Amino acid sequence: MVLGIIGLFFAFALVSYIIMEAVRMSSDKPMYPNTTHYDFSPVGLHGSEVFREARCTSCHRAVRGGTNMGLDLDGIGSKRSMEYLESFLRDPEATYQTRTLDHGPAPKEAAYVAKLPEADRKAIATFLSELRADQGSGAARLPVGERSSFVDGMVKMWAPEGWKTEYTDIREEARVNAENERKHDANAK
Ligand code: HEC
Repeated sequence: MVLGIIGLFFAFALVSYIIMEAVRMSSDKPMYPNTTHYDFSPVGLHGSEVFREARCTSCHRAVRGGTNMGLDLDGIGSKRSMEYLESFLRDPEATYQTRTLDHGPAPKEAAYVAKLPEADRKAIATFLSELRADQGSGAARLPVGERSSFVDGMVKMWAPEGWKTEYTDIREEARVNAENERKHDANAK
């Protein structure tokens, strides 16, 4: 009886899986919208090879390859500057300003990264800086360009008095950036 119920569950799971895969394969729309993209320069392309040869993919995911052990690096070029990336690869803990898990001094597993030849680290940094993400997506530094009344309300309610004198409002940068991109697109047409 119990075995029968368990068997039924398995049969149900299997049938659901087959139906899901069939729907997925017959649909030409991607299941999830793709918010990261890349357009490599020759140096960036070379960097992608160095990235793979240096076994970064044993911990990181980038450009449809690698694992999820470390951070997903797709889109990182929209979050971190070239200077940051070079500096992190050379001197991870000083750049993070705290202890790291895997990068950082031996015997940490990714300690070897800081010892790679400088030309390799530079090529990798260029490659990483060319992994871009759409503004407003999870991998991007900037939020969407449009003003949200919900966020405005939350800021009004929770932000400390006078925060604008101490912090910059990243939404302002996001708005200007989105506007520039629109202008750029309009000119390209
Ligand atoms: C043993 C696993 C491992 C390997 C190998 C590894 N990483 Fe990492 N990486 C991590 C982890 C974990 C972090 C998060 C920081 C930390 O705690 O070390 C990280 C962080 C980073 C960051 C910082 C991201 C940010 O936003 O600050 C970059 C860039 C990076 N890795 C690039 C590389 C490159 C390039 C290589 C290959 C040359 C590499 N990693 C090899 C595990 C690894």
